[in-house]
Amino acid sequence: MRFRSVLALSAALVLRGATSIELDLSDPSSITSAASSIAHGMMTWYTGNQTGQIPGILPPPYYWWEAGAMFGTLIDYWYYTGDSGYNDVVKEALLFQVGPEANYMPPNQSKNEGNDDQAFWGFTVMTAAEYKFPNPPPDQPQWLALAQGVWNSQQLRWDRTTCNGGLRWQIYSTNNGYDYKHTPSNAAFMNLGARLYAYTGNETYAEWTVKAWDWMYDHGLIKTPDSPGSARPYSVFDGTYSTMNCTDLIPIQWTYNAGMLLNAAAVMWNATGDPIWEERVNGLWASSIVFFKDKVMWEVACEPRGNCNTDQLSFKAYFSRFMAASTKWMPQLYNEFQPFFAASAQQAAKQCSGDAAGLVGNACGFRWTQGSRYDGTYGFGQQMGAMEVILANMIEPSVGPVTAKTGGISKGDPSAGTGGDYGEDGSAPLQPITAGDKAGASILTAVFVVAMLGGAWWMIL
Ligand SMILES: *[C@@H]1O[C@H](CO)[C@@H](O)[C@H](O)[C@H]1NC(C)=O
Ligand SMILES: *[C@@H]1O[C@H](CO)[C@@H](O)[C@H](O)[C@H]1NC(C)=O
Ligand SMILES: *[C@@H]1O[C@H](CO)[C@@H](O)[C@H](O)[C@H]1NC(C)=O
Ligand SMILES: *[C@@H]1O[C@H](CO)[C@@H](O)[C@H](O)[C@H]1NC(C)=O
Ligand SMILES: *[C@@H]1O[C@H](CO)[C@@H](O)[C@H](O)[C@H]1NC(C)=O
Repeated sequence: MRFRSVLALSAALVLRGATSIELDLSDPSSITSAASSIAHGMMTWYTGNQTGQIPGILPPPYYWWEAGAMFGTLIDYWYYTGDSGYNDVVKEALLFQVGPEANYMPPNQSKNEGNDDQAFWGFTVMTAAEYKFPNPPPDQPQWLALAQGVWNSQQLRWDRTTCNGGLRWQIYSTNNGYDYKHTPSNAAFMNLGARLYAYTGNETYAEWTVKAWDWMYDHGLIKTPDSPGSARPYSVFDGTYSTMNCTDLIPIQWTYNAGMLLNAAAVMWNATGDPIWEERVNGLWASSIVFFKDKVMWEVACEPRGNCNTDQLSFKAYFSRFMAASTKWMPQLYNEFQPFFAASAQQAAKQCSGDAAGLVGNACGFRWTQGSRYDGTYGFGQQMGAMEVILANMIEPSVGPVTAKTGGISKGDPSAGTGGDYGEDGSAPLQPITAGDKAGASILTAVFVVAMLGGAWWMIL
């Protein structure tokens, strides 16, 4: 993922708030129809299934990773509602983008791809396996094997040259952000590992899941009770620099980082029964109170000031998704989360009232906390967020995720993705990068730190 400012698709469009979509949370058909309207609106912007277009790519300003996330949202949509209308489009895109190693490293994306970007496609295929999304044809890579491919390639990138381990943000040393060991990549690796462990029972995944948690916790990315600062224990911070031996901390709190970890811990509680995971889930949830205002979810690091970038506008979608999914692995969470799903969904629905970019009355805004006044923004992130949080209200009656032992139908391949990464010049796979940081990178880093701290003023004050 990249940092960039929000770009309007077109300034010339007339934006107004019409009547919002109807939502009666006591009526499953009302939830389904609200989600359907939002999904339909979103898919009018997707052109990847048209003749001559590339399956799995979203129009600018959306990066490749967000398309992977969006197909995950459409799998969720099918899972909750049973509407299979987008399944073929989803399957086509998921199979088109796998890349030569079947691990979501397609050559013409991989040079800009971070570990977190790759992981979002990994989440989507893992979800496909857990929810028994229709399998690909037998001659194509299968959902579980693709998730293993992503995980294996990331495990090989675990970087012991600095900070005793951890994943770097970027895969290639020439990319800005290679020096940054950040939570999204490590939490995503942990999340995928926990779910692969639950699905397959292979202990290697559990070992690495524990290792990833410990690494983040030991380096302060997950706040320990005795560390300084006013944030609650288990608050999840964004990252730390390998150039500083991971002694600094970028203290921004994003919803999706907490969501990935909370879900991973809930899966581990389910798979191991170890009470330490329940304690972690509860801590992560307690620290997540910053992401709600009167029980309505908000992206606290940027939403109050209205400066969320394109990527960040979608994070609430993943937090909603991971919270809801966690209640299946750890049913005692449901009563705790339900009031937050309900309040957030009611307010999100009120924002789905825009006439914008071809949508009439179903373009969703972003600021769920501001009542029925449409905030005038629209985009894939806003549609996904509203859809995921509305659908979360149907999690209780929905069937749980399957594993290989409980009815799973996806074939795995434990050695998928172990071939190593292609070189930066497109040459044959190399061993994982082990060289030291490139000279000059610290200049970019310095600029980057300033930019990041600029966005975190509210935390530092
Ligand atoms: C692309 O998918 C949409 C559903 O999202 C569908 O309505 C449309 O007909 C499809 N277009 C083509 C050319 O297949
Ligand atoms: C990427 O590669 C695929 C397969 O070679 C190609 O069809 C596509 O046009 C390329 N471009 C983009 C932006 O994905
Ligand atoms: C860097 O930090 C690690 C702990 O993460 C420590 O073991 C090591 O000694 C430190 N190295 C330097 C050069 O400070
Ligand atoms: C378990 O997973 C590891 C890591 O991917 C793999 O090397 C190993 O072969 C797997 N074991 C089995 C029995 O599938
Ligand atoms: C573990 O998760 C599965 C799948 O959702 C669920 O059926 C089971 O009840 C959970 N186990 C416990 C102890 O809650």
